[in-house]
Amino acid sequence: MFGARCLLRALRSCSSAPCPGHKPSAKLSVRDALGAQNASGERVKVQGWIRSVRSQKEVLFLHVNDGSSLESLQVVADSSFDSRELAFGSSVEVQGQLVKSLSKRQNVELKAEKIEVVGNCDAKDSGFVHIHTPVITSNDCEGAGELFQVTPSSKIKVPEENFFNVPVFLTVSGQLHLEVMSGAFTQVFTFGPTFRAENSQSRRHLAEFYMVEAEISFLESLQDLMQVMEGLFKTTTMTVLSNCPEDVELCHKFIAPGQKDRLEHMLKNNFLIISYTEAVEILKQASQNFTFTPEWGADLHTEHEKYLVKHCGDTPVFVINYPLALKPFYMRDNEDSPQHTVAAVDLLVPGVGELVGGSLREERYHFLEQRLARSGLTEAYQWYLDLRQFGSVPHGGFGMGFERYLQCILGIDNIKDVIPFPRFTHSCLL
Ligand code: 4AD
Ligand code: MG
Repeated sequence: MFGARCLLRALRSCSSAPCPGHKPSAKLSVRDALGAQNASGERVKVQGWIRSVRSQKEVLFLHVNDGSSLESLQVVADSSFDSRELAFGSSVEVQGQLVKSLSKRQNVELKAEKIEVVGNCDAKDSGFVHIHTPVITSNDCEGAGELFQVTPSSKIKVPEENFFNVPVFLTVSGQLHLEVMSGAFTQVFTFGPTFRAENSQSRRHLAEFYMVEAEISFLESLQDLMQVMEGLFKTTTMTVLSNCPEDVELCHKFIAPGQKDRLEHMLKNNFLIISYTEAVEILKQASQNFTFTPEWGADLHTEHEKYLVKHCGDTPVFVINYPLALKPFYMRDNEDSPQHTVAAVDLLVPGVGELVGGSLREERYHFLEQRLARSGLTEAYQWYLDLRQFGSVPHGGFGMGFERYLQCILGIDNIKDVIPFPRFTHSCLL
C-alpha cells in the first residue's frame, strides 16, 4: 500500500522530460522504489550514487543508493550499458521499469532503459574514498609533542574541567582516523589543515599547513607504497600543468627560471630509492661541512636532505628504512639487526627536501602492544591497539604537505610565499 501511494505521489509530481516512445518516468527515491509492493513495470527514474557494480557476460548489476534508505536499489541493465564511468561513487540517473525481482534478496529491481552518469567519481579512478578527518582530536599521532591545545575561552562556563572531558588538540595528522576508516573502505584519503607547534621560522615550516594523506589496506611492501606516492606526485603535477599552464609559467618565468626543465626531468624519470643507511654513508663521504654531523641513528636535517637530492642528480629520491628509535610508534618493525629499523619512507625533492612522509603500519598486535608499552602510551592508544584485534590487515600510508608541494613544482624558495595567510612562530596576522 505504502509503495503504491508513493508511486502515485511521485507520478503526480513527475517533472522529467518524457523518454522518446515511453510514458514520462516518475522520479522516485530509492526508499520509495524499494517500498513498491506490486511493481509491474511502471516507468520510473531514480537518482543516486553507485555503491557496487557487478558485470556479467550479458547483464550488468548496479546497486544505487541516494541516502534515503540503508538498502540500495538493484539496477539490472543490458551489458551494452557497461562503461568505465559506471563505477563506485559515480552519481547516476537511471530510467527504466520497476519490476518484481526474481531473486529472493530483494522485492523489486529497476530494469534500466537509460543510464546517465551525472558525475564521474574521480576518486574511483584510483579507488580512493575521501574521508573528512577531524580537526579537533585527543591524539598526538606523530608523538612529537608539537601540539596546540584547544580550550574554550575563559568566558564560557563548562561544568567539567575539560570541555570534552579529555584534553584535546588541533590535529597534527589525520592518519590514525584514516587507519580506522581503511578497515571499511580499503583505500582512503583526506585533505585538510594540519597544525604543528614547531618553533621554526624556516623556509619550509608553517604552524598551519594543508596535508593530503592516504591509507591503503592489504598493502605489504614499501615498494607498493612508493608507487602510489610517485603516481600521486606525477599525475597531480601533470593535471596542474595541463589545467593552469599560464599560472605555472608565470612562476617559472619570473621566480624560478629553469624550473620548467627541472620539473620535466622529475616527471620523465623514475624516482630513486636509497636506504637511510646508504644515505648516511653518502653524507659521511661528502666533502661538504654540515652543521649537524651525519651519523647513523641521527635525524636527517634539511641540509642533509638537500645534499642527498643533489647527489642523486637533482631528482626526487625515496629514503627508506629509518632507525626505529627515530620514528613514531605506529611504523612497522623491520626486525633487522644489529641496526634496528622500521619500514618508513620519506620522499625528498629538489629545492625543498622532505615532501612526503609515510610508512607501513605495525599491524601485528604483539609488536604494537610492546611499542606502546615502551613509550608509555598503552592507555591512550588502547583503541588503536584494538583495531589490530579485529580483522587487522597489513596496511600503509603517507602524507604530503600541500604548501611544500607547491614550492616544489613552482620553484618557490620560501613556504610563506605559497600561502596567503602564513602562520608561524611569532606571526599570526589577521
Ligand atoms: O612526515 P610527517 O610528519 O608525516 C605524518 O604526519 C604522517 N602521519 C603522515 C601519514 O603517514 N599519513 O608529515 C607529512 C608531510 C611532510 O613530509 C611535509 O611535507 C609536511 O607534511 N609537513 C609540513 N609542511 C609545512 N610545515 C610543517 N611544519 C610541516 N610538517 C610536516
Ligand atoms: Mg616526516
